Amino acid sequence: MSDKHYTLTDPESGSVLELKRYDPTIGPSVLDVTKLYGSQGVFTYDPGFAATACCTSDVTYIDGEKGVLLYRGYPIEQLAEKSTYIEVCYLLLHGELPNKTELANFEESIRTHTMINESLLRFFNGFHYDAHPMAMMSGVVGSMSAFYHDSTDIHNPEHRDIVAHRLIAKIPTIAAAAYKHTLGQPFVYPANDLDYCGNLLSMFFAVPAEEYEVDRVAAEAIDLLFILHADHEQNCSTSTVRMAGSSGTSPYSAIAAGISALWGPAHGGANEAVINMLEKVGSVDHINEYVARAKDKDDPFRLMGFGHRVYKSYDPRAAIIRKMCHKVLEGLGQQDNPLFELALRLEEIALKDEYFIEKNLYPNVDFYSGIIYQALGIPKSMFTVMFAIARCVGWVTHWCEMVADPTSRIGRPRQLYTGPTERDYVSLKDRG
Ligand code: CMC
Repeated sequence: MSDKHYTLTDPESGSVLELKRYDPTIGPSVLDVTKLYGSQGVFTYDPGFAATACCTSDVTYIDGEKGVLLYRGYPIEQLAEKSTYIEVCYLLLHGELPNKTELANFEESIRTHTMINESLLRFFNGFHYDAHPMAMMSGVVGSMSAFYHDSTDIHNPEHRDIVAHRLIAKIPTIAAAAYKHTLGQPFVYPANDLDYCGNLLSMFFAVPAEEYEVDRVAAEAIDLLFILHADHEQNCSTSTVRMAGSSGTSPYSAIAAGISALWGPAHGGANEAVINMLEKVGSVDHINEYVARAKDKDDPFRLMGFGHRVYKSYDPRAAIIRKMCHKVLEGLGQQDNPLFELALRLEEIALKDEYFIEKNLYPNVDFYSGIIYQALGIPKSMFTVMFAIARCVGWVTHWCEMVADPTSRIGRPRQLYTGPTERDYVSLKDRG
């Protein structure tokens, strides 16, 4: 980071304020306001952190205007075409693509950490049969803090590595246990001879009474979706992981906080909400009615899977998923999938509408991903869980980066107070 300055002049008093300016490797410069309160007695105000960089990070870069997404400098389009999810996990965690030996060792480590403690497995019996799997996920991943006491020193890089491998390896197992609980089916143990996504499918769909063969079209589709969801810089859930982790809490608790943040419909919960919306729209004839509702300020309805805080152009992940939908649906013999037809038409109509054009609202990653998951037989309530499995590597990478950063401090924002000024307590008998 270079050490330049940015000067602000108060037009009334003429006083000059110098703020340090940091120039990133790419993207807009950042002004350092850490000394502002000490020198000027004022805070900055930025609800939703739309204009605030809260950390330095080497992991992921987004150019929202141009629709660019880079993991460790590599364009998402190249990774989607040429890489695998496990290789992307290594890249995110370590900053570089692995050589053959490094990849083999990493894969081996993830494969051999897939089982979870049997006691942890029994937690699922405590959940109601119709509990949302995201509720079970946050509870059980948080409960991992009560196990694995061999690697609790967050300042030890080896311990952090073990935490990362455990989380990436075990989160599909926990997700599958949540799914099997909702079905009332027996839990299927991980099969370490299968690859990451093949194992996930087997734990989801195999039953002890029958042979199960992994569908390669499905496994490859999930692998690609996982690459696209693996990280997205300082989004709501990742920032939550960093915020919770900044207190020095257990990494499993911090990741559980991230899972909770992801669940909301404005974030990862949107993939489930998109399918609910498309089912409600029902047919092409009703699209205009729903588009009109989305534009109506007095109606809380929004087009789910549309709009993004950072992307003001087409989300590059949505572009890849839309293309992939054609291929996967064809591979599954579902080329006439009515929800996909409806989604394509809805996109076409919205993108020609003045409201969406003016506000730069385009399909985001969640608009088409649910269509693929649904075609693969994954139920709606598991869509956000799939997102959580994929994003786990991003969360843990950011947590590691934060813990290793000597400039990290506990996250503690300030506020613009609008409550009452100081007043005296009135005893109950004297209150009217
Ligand atoms: N439908 C209709 N209007 C919208 C939509 C939408 N989906 N998204 C934004 N707008 C309007 C919004 O009403 C506002 O209008 P105005 O300026 O007149 O008040 C303007 O566009 C800006 O929206 P905002 O809510 O201030 O933008 P934000 O950056 O705070 O929110 C968002 C971003 C993603 C939460 C929002 O676009 C949204 O709610 N989208 C639908 C939910 C969704 O698809 N979420 C997934 C996000 S991507 C993946 C992820 O994060 O997990």
